[in-house]
Amino acid sequence: MCGIVGYVGKRDAAPILMEGLHRLEYRGYDSAGLAVVRNGKLRTYKSKGKVRELETHLPAKLRGATGIAHTRWATHGQPSDENAHPHSDPTNRFAIVHNGIVENAAELRARFESQGVTFLSQTDSEVLAHLIAATPAETLADSVRGALRLVTGTYGIAVVDAERADEIVVARNGSPVILGIGEREMFVASDAAALVRHTQSIVHLDDGELAVVRADGYETSTLAGGATVKTPLTVSWSQEALDKGDHEHYMRKEIAEQPEAIRRTLSGRLDDRFQTTHLGGLEMAARELLEVRRVKILGCGSAYIAGCMGAQLIEQLARVPAHAEPASEFRYRNPVIEPDTLYVAVSQSGETFDTLAALQEIKRKGGRVLGLVNVVGSTIARECERGVYLHAGPEIAVVATKTFTCTAVAFALLAIHLGRLRDLSTAGGARLLAALKALPAQVESILAAEAQIAAVATAIASATDAYFVGRAAGFAVALEGALKLKEVSYLHAEAYPASELKHGPLALISPATPTVVVLPRDELFAKNISTIEEIRARGGPTYVVTHPGPPLPVAVDGVIEVPKSEPELDALLLNVPLQLLAYHVALAKGRDIDQPRNLAKSVTVE
Ligand code: G6P
Repeated sequence: MCGIVGYVGKRDAAPILMEGLHRLEYRGYDSAGLAVVRNGKLRTYKSKGKVRELETHLPAKLRGATGIAHTRWATHGQPSDENAHPHSDPTNRFAIVHNGIVENAAELRARFESQGVTFLSQTDSEVLAHLIAATPAETLADSVRGALRLVTGTYGIAVVDAERADEIVVARNGSPVILGIGEREMFVASDAAALVRHTQSIVHLDDGELAVVRADGYETSTLAGGATVKTPLTVSWSQEALDKGDHEHYMRKEIAEQPEAIRRTLSGRLDDRFQTTHLGGLEMAARELLEVRRVKILGCGSAYIAGCMGAQLIEQLARVPAHAEPASEFRYRNPVIEPDTLYVAVSQSGETFDTLAALQEIKRKGGRVLGLVNVVGSTIARECERGVYLHAGPEIAVVATKTFTCTAVAFALLAIHLGRLRDLSTAGGARLLAALKALPAQVESILAAEAQIAAVATAIASATDAYFVGRAAGFAVALEGALKLKEVSYLHAEAYPASELKHGPLALISPATPTVVVLPRDELFAKNISTIEEIRARGGPTYVVTHPGPPLPVAVDGVIEVPKSEPELDALLLNVPLQLLAYHVALAKGRDIDQPRNLAKSVTVE
């Protein structure tokens, strides 16, 4: 949510900042801006709209080897030129870019206004620039420290001073800040994606840390001023992984990458000798794992829904009660934390604020948290004492696709591990390991049937409302299918457990409302067929996602077939065509697929 980029070195900053903003646009895309320092002056350009809009406002040559830039996802104040970052103080000496929320902004602002100061924007961030200017000190770092002492809330900030052209000061409390180490040049960003083109050596700031960044290096310290020591980390994401390649959209590319991504999630984790799985980051001995009586899974958006699938897998395979809950709900209801519960925090980005806050609450109350995270070194990954990385590779489209699938695969690995310590037999373990190994090729075959899925998309694209129904793990598939469709196509979609249909939503079924039915050929097949009959009796068109087999005992309007896995893993495959379905509906409607309106990839505010 909101992207920050900064550069200090020997080259002109502007092209580097613009390239970085393009890379980070998935974090926010309602306005953008940059400021560079040259000859004791700030040159600031801001624009409502996407980064390419900002590009049209920049002079052909913008000189200056130090600069900061920002792409915004509005929280305080509408998207506009004025509300875009960077923000400055009244003398235009300091420029600041900010991610997060200053909670006492209104109070601080009122104090300045009572002294006759005029604000140019409605943002909470502008007050930070005023505070820095109002805190004169020997060094920029000390001014920033002084200002931050007066602030409550969350921030990741980068600040430049027109009178000290050789440095950027950054600070973090709750919103990520990363330093990239180059050859006599340094980079600053909210996300490693903006840096990998220039360097693979990065440093993550911790909460309460500040850094002074110059071309020849950096110094980190606490807000109180005590020096801190950092160890740089190497990021392994390649440039190609971050590019769109031959695909029109990142979403399409990431859907297509799933076979490879699943292979990476599985890599080195299947133990054929004992027919179990090996999870290096779990760091819990067998005896400790046997003491686990319950599993509680927390996440937001698709991560939460992947958690619903994970809960099913754990209950089925390990016979341990498991339940998923949106992290935001959990953290606000003063949850009971139990010593024999294993808590699992799920997050692609590793930065989602509500998930982070939930895990911090659990830790504070003495609970054990395992992280299922994609981004290595992210805040949630670092905050969890133990974790399983997805290794899905970078996901740039705002909506989750390959990371949803890889999270489900990671849950399958965890469930098999817990199961094999309990009642899952050697034969059961072998059956599931073989099924996991078959997944990449099975996903490939689903992707090869894209034309069939696109035909269903054409049929439902003209509807204004759609329903998704399923039972048990199939309900999680329905939830994710409906979420994907609304996120990228803006078509109103709702998911229901198939059994709940007659308790309300059936009133809405008509020839104008298509229903997608998740119809695995399992023990609930006959029940799901009855659901289809109920819908058809009200004239509702039905589209089914099912397994190959004998002709269906009921007429339907469209069929998408996916290969059969083991019953416990079927949900994982049944979800894949629904990603393509959402993609093709969005394509037919001409939507901004990779950056849907009002959404952001990583939601780092409450
Ligand atoms: C946002 C994104 C979703 C994502 C959710 C959780 O809402 O738009 O696609 O599922 O955040 O993100 P996380 O990074 O924690 O998995």
